[in-house]
Amino acid sequence: MAPTATSALSRPTSPVDRAACHDRGMQAIGAPAPYDIFTDNERWGDLDDWNRSAVALHERGGIHRIERDGFSPFWAVVDHAAVLGIERNPAMFTNGPEPVLAARAAIDSRLMEIKTLIHMDAPEHFKYRRLTADWFKPASIKRLGDRLDSLSREAVGKLEALGGECDFATEIALPYPLQVILRILGLPEQDYPRMLMLTQQLFGGEDPDLQRDAPTPEVVAEVLMDFYGYFSALTSDRRSAPTDDLATLIANGRIDGEPMPDLETMGYYTIVATAGHDTTSSAMAGGMQALIDHPEQLARLQAEPDLLPNAVEEMIRWTAPVRHFMRTAQEDTEVCGQQIKAGDWLYLSYKAANLDPKVFDDPLRFDITRPNADKQVSFGYGVHFCLGAQLARNELRSLFSHLVPRLEWIELAGDPSTMKSTFVGGHKTLPIRYELKG
Ligand code: HEM
Repeated sequence: MAPTATSALSRPTSPVDRAACHDRGMQAIGAPAPYDIFTDNERWGDLDDWNRSAVALHERGGIHRIERDGFSPFWAVVDHAAVLGIERNPAMFTNGPEPVLAARAAIDSRLMEIKTLIHMDAPEHFKYRRLTADWFKPASIKRLGDRLDSLSREAVGKLEALGGECDFATEIALPYPLQVILRILGLPEQDYPRMLMLTQQLFGGEDPDLQRDAPTPEVVAEVLMDFYGYFSALTSDRRSAPTDDLATLIANGRIDGEPMPDLETMGYYTIVATAGHDTTSSAMAGGMQALIDHPEQLARLQAEPDLLPNAVEEMIRWTAPVRHFMRTAQEDTEVCGQQIKAGDWLYLSYKAANLDPKVFDDPLRFDITRPNADKQVSFGYGVHFCLGAQLARNELRSLFSHLVPRLEWIELAGDPSTMKSTFVGGHKTLPIRYELKG
């Protein structure tokens, strides 16, 4: 269910394409534009406020020039059609050299490289993606159905055992996807807590509660070294004693007939191990809170379970756990009527694009019956479209299909908190009180 849209991306003279986008660049309207939502990690601590700011930006235009202290200037693209238009032109807008927003000092002082699918462009990207693509096709994912069902039953059993009060984020939403992806990779269960900690340190490096230490270049390199140390041992093991797991496929992967170089092999494990759980956990916890905040939607879902797939799309639109990826323009062009120069950096705001009022009617309304919820762009689009999208959807569907019918009532038992991260994030805590039906 990849989203479609008319192109908002255009070469300078295309009036048709220009019309597809909200063509009002950077107009000044009343209060100063809330441009810090892209660069200030603190702004992610209050998601409702972030969302309102994003909607306010749509009023001003589909693309915005962001010049903030410490950051190289970039264009923040919030227009839904423009995000898709850029993604469907990977030769014009490349992932390299910097696919994730970081402060200039952090980029300049980097001590260690990381190279994952996200850092690659054609022709390399296709060769590497092809290696594991079959593992993530719907037919393969379907085979995991029983495993997901048993994890979902365990999750409901755990809620029962916890006796009516718990932190849904850490007790349920964090462990579930972690167990799925690490099982697919083939890692032993005793290593799961270590993987969880390393992932949170990698993605949550900006958040004081999750970071290993202040995110200096040394600390970032240390976290990566720990990943690499772990995965080097795994590679040796799977080369000498292959099994049928995904780690074996990566360890023995060949590109153009040659073994994968070390940096790329480490990057492959790292992206599968990390992208596969924090993201899905965030959608689960964020989806749970949305149902708690909108009890009429929860009641509707209980009355009409067939709405679940659409409800899951709406949860994914609502949460957009991957906040952005960056692209670099390779030629002079135009986006939303704005001149873009070769070399310019563009920030694709998946979260803001999911709140584009031109596509989503009343975008700040959580609505499990929204007719076009599947137009959300939380999984990106085009050649880099999330490899794990179907897996993530199935995990969410499985968990909520077991949980929702069992809920007698559920409410917040305290204030939730969210990760202060500009890249990947969601709930850190979601205290809940509940009663389950017998
Ligand atoms: C709700 C959960 C998830 C969200 C919101 C999400 C989001 C994303 C996004 C936005 C991208 C970049 C797409 C683009 O550039 O167009 C991506 C790429 C990727 N995701 Fe996910 N993801 C999720 C779950 C997963 C899972 C469960 C896996 C399993 C391994 C996974 C593996 C990957 C990989 C390997 C890539 C890189 C693909 C490439 O560059 O070719 N993701 N994801």
